[in-house]
Amino acid sequence: MTADTQAPAEQATTHQGILDFVDWVSALTTPDRIHWCTGSDEEWTELTDALVASGTFTRLDPAKKPNSFHARTDPTDVARVEDRTYICSVEEKDAGPTNNWMDPEEMKTLMRGLYAGCMKGRTMYVIPFVMGHLDAEKPMFGVEITDSAYVTASMRVMARMGSHVLRRMEELDADFVPALHSVGMPLAEGQADVAWPCNETKYIVQFPEERMIWSYGSGYGGNSLLGKKCYALRIASVLARDEGWLAEHMLILKLTSPAGVTKYVAAAFPSACGKTNLAMLAPTIPGWKVESIGDDIAWMRIGEDGRLWAVNPEYGFFGVAPGTNEHTNPNAMKTINLGNSVFTNVALTDDGDIWWEGLENMPAHATSWKGEDWTPQISEETGELSSHANSRYCTPIKQCPILAPEYDDPRGVPIDAILFGGRRKTTIPLVTEARDWVHGTFMGATLSSETTAAAVGQVGVVRRDPMAMLPFIGYHAGDYFNHWIEVGKDNDASKLPKIFYVNWFRRDEDGGFLWPGFGENSRVLKWVVERIEGQAAAVETPIGRVPTPESLDTDGLDLTPAQVEAALRVDPDEWRAELPQIQEWFEKFGDQLPAVLWTELDGLRARLGEA
Ligand code: GTP
Ligand code: MN
Ligand code: MN
Repeated sequence: MTADTQAPAEQATTHQGILDFVDWVSALTTPDRIHWCTGSDEEWTELTDALVASGTFTRLDPAKKPNSFHARTDPTDVARVEDRTYICSVEEKDAGPTNNWMDPEEMKTLMRGLYAGCMKGRTMYVIPFVMGHLDAEKPMFGVEITDSAYVTASMRVMARMGSHVLRRMEELDADFVPALHSVGMPLAEGQADVAWPCNETKYIVQFPEERMIWSYGSGYGGNSLLGKKCYALRIASVLARDEGWLAEHMLILKLTSPAGVTKYVAAAFPSACGKTNLAMLAPTIPGWKVESIGDDIAWMRIGEDGRLWAVNPEYGFFGVAPGTNEHTNPNAMKTINLGNSVFTNVALTDDGDIWWEGLENMPAHATSWKGEDWTPQISEETGELSSHANSRYCTPIKQCPILAPEYDDPRGVPIDAILFGGRRKTTIPLVTEARDWVHGTFMGATLSSETTAAAVGQVGVVRRDPMAMLPFIGYHAGDYFNHWIEVGKDNDASKLPKIFYVNWFRRDEDGGFLWPGFGENSRVLKWVVERIEGQAAAVETPIGRVPTPESLDTDGLDLTPAQVEAALRVDPDEWRAELPQIQEWFEKFGDQLPAVLWTELDGLRARLGEA
């Protein structure tokens, strides 16, 4: 591996664009050292040893979680910061009504001021990476420069990175997305570092025309692992619009029926609404098999056969920890138990393991994510949680015991069904089938969900989150809807995936979930497959097709017919109450909302008997 170096960057690569980027950043941010990342095991060991020494990491007991680490962030740096996230397009109108915007030159001036000298006393890491397969027809390269060892270690889990990527970039003289990250905490001569450096001032900025990312002040994954949300969703959504493909906040799974029929399903749910759980589902119905391909992001394009092909551009899982256990997600547990993982803002047990709310074997004592004593009794008395609600595990996808072999295929998989879903206590039935692509786009465009801890802000408020992409669309959301409509128009509709809308989170009068969820969601997947195959029955309702109670497999499920009926119910009054909200949402987009979506809303209104 390359040692830390103060030697000129020329020695590290022959790629002039990367050299220029590194030179420019190092002149601006004045790091003490530059480290060119190789991605080797030795480098991982060096990085993690240094993180243990600096107090950022605690090594877990290798007998329990080999080669794994616990990290605790600053208590103010725990989630994506949507109000500090900007799409700095040249024209304000191109950012649309759902994004923060600032003039790119103004933003650059402001941020150059913040970046000036910001890496003083620190190491600057240069991470060559590729989102998606290195052997893709057009590999999607990036170079992240960061002053965080935590980010560097996490990037090795989450993205294909290192020397082999750099060599390929040199061979191709490849374009790349420059991605600059700093925690924003320079160290004066002799100043001691803190365990989690960050800055009160935070900016997460995408420059869509330049395909460039600048991030400052936060070490939290969604703000700092720039290949993920910033590149693979915000920047990629712009590329996708320009080039005719789709970059979506979707899991990808492979489903095989007892008869051996295989279908591929993609599903978009907002943050902390069940993608990672569904992606690794352990079916409760006999003979059905789920294999994982991705848990967060899907890049999809129409193939030569006219079908929609999807790849997962990532290399790891960055999953919500609380609630994950042997029952809800046994495959995630197997993945993390193999080790090689980073756990952030969960509790640390006295015997060197991790714990979080919902995990089995509650410890009698642990150190909470805030670094305080935690016991079940303290928790009962004060309500203090051991783990932050948005605490995460970061773990290699290759360790997933049900990883589909297609994961490694640069062509990806042909998608048969797309599910949209959100977290709604009322109104939205367990599953609804769209009549066609445009209707499905309407479902996606009006997707609503109660907010979660995945982003800073109030939790539990219903908001529209179109295609689960509200915080990730890198341009005008009206144009984004139009792009979806165009994908349907330009292609043979019979070959496109069928679209469904699901809600695992509907509640009864007592506030309990109407549907048991998790592994039982395989029953919904079964209905979806049987609809595609033309086998299962459905009833036409004003909002789309929902299962007849008999068509949904509830064998062995501890639910009364009334409960099943309640989970599937389409209540016209609840839906009539939804209409003005959808109207108001659509009005935000003015002329840029595709007319066919207004037509869909008019149709829904008419079917609900509202003229
Ligand atoms: P991001 O990684 O932030 O994009 O979110 P995600 O969509 O991957 O969310 P994840 O699968 O991690 O789900 C997080 C929360 O949803 C946890 O609290 C889970 O317990 C809960 N959850 C997931 N699936 C179900 C389900 O079928 N039913 C219920 N009731 N809760 C679920
Ligand atoms: Mn996500
Ligand atoms: Mn997830």
